[in-house]
Amino acid sequence: MNKQKIVVFTGAGISVESGIETYRGDTGLWHQHDIRDVCHPEGWHKDPQKVLEFYNQRRKEVAKASPNAAHLAIAQLESQYDVTVITQNVDDLHERAGSSKILHLHGEVTKVRSDLPSDYHLYDIGYDAVNIGQRCESGLQLRPHIVWFAEEPFFMEESIQLFAEADKILVVGTSLQVQPAASLILFAHSAQDRYIIDPSPMTPPKKFDHLRGNASDIVPRLVNSWLSL
Ligand SMILES: NC(=O)c1ccc[n+]([C@@H]2O[C@H](COP(=O)([O-])OP(=O)(O)OC[C@H]3O[C@@H](n4cnc5c(N)ncnc54)[C@H](O)[C@@H]3O)[C@@H](O)[C@H]2O)c1
Repeated sequence: MNKQKIVVFTGAGISVESGIETYRGDTGLWHQHDIRDVCHPEGWHKDPQKVLEFYNQRRKEVAKASPNAAHLAIAQLESQYDVTVITQNVDDLHERAGSSKILHLHGEVTKVRSDLPSDYHLYDIGYDAVNIGQRCESGLQLRPHIVWFAEEPFFMEESIQLFAEADKILVVGTSLQVQPAASLILFAHSAQDRYIIDPSPMTPPKKFDHLRGNASDIVPRLVNSWLSL
């Protein structure tokens, strides 16, 4: 029998209990940094070392963090379901929790690439720092493999298809403010079960049930109920 398809769509909130803050929360990074300086091609052209330092710091944070109960529960779903994690996060906590199909819409902090968009070289850097003067094999400066504001997310076509075909959709820890990623939920055409897990009050998207609470508390409970169906 074919396994049911689940799409898990995650945002910064799922990693909060692992010690990685959201950017736009009350104490988030956007209160300390101007987005245009560190998360926009303009900032990269103006002061690339500043941008590299910002992501060097993010890599250190990710290195110190561990997957929490929500990341681990999502990985367990694979024992009974065909699961794809579509994440806006740039950390590697879904990988370290054991999920096997992960699409990073906004890139990965553990990777770097050449700073020209066409035919770029991509490298795993792990949690190491990158500095000015570190170049790809074609001699171009390396930049973080991150989708900045004004850049196109990765895997959008594939994600639209996955949303459209999913039997169950679980959205965790996203304010659904970052476009075009947030618009993916509009393509949930056939899913019978649609949940959004987030501690903040919200009007959930149409046909979604809002389970209000922290990811590490609510996700394992929902996963257990799906595994016992
Ligand atoms: N860990 C990361 O990789 C990371 C961290 C910060 C920001 N980002 C980037 O910034 C963008 C921010 O957009 P976003 O929508 O993902 O985040 P967001 O900051 O806009 O929203 C985060 C959401 O998480 C919720 N939240 C807070 N604590 C939570 C918890 N314990 N459990 C569940 N939910 C919780 C908040 O209520 C909020 O709705 C992302 O697209 C991503 O590229 C990534």
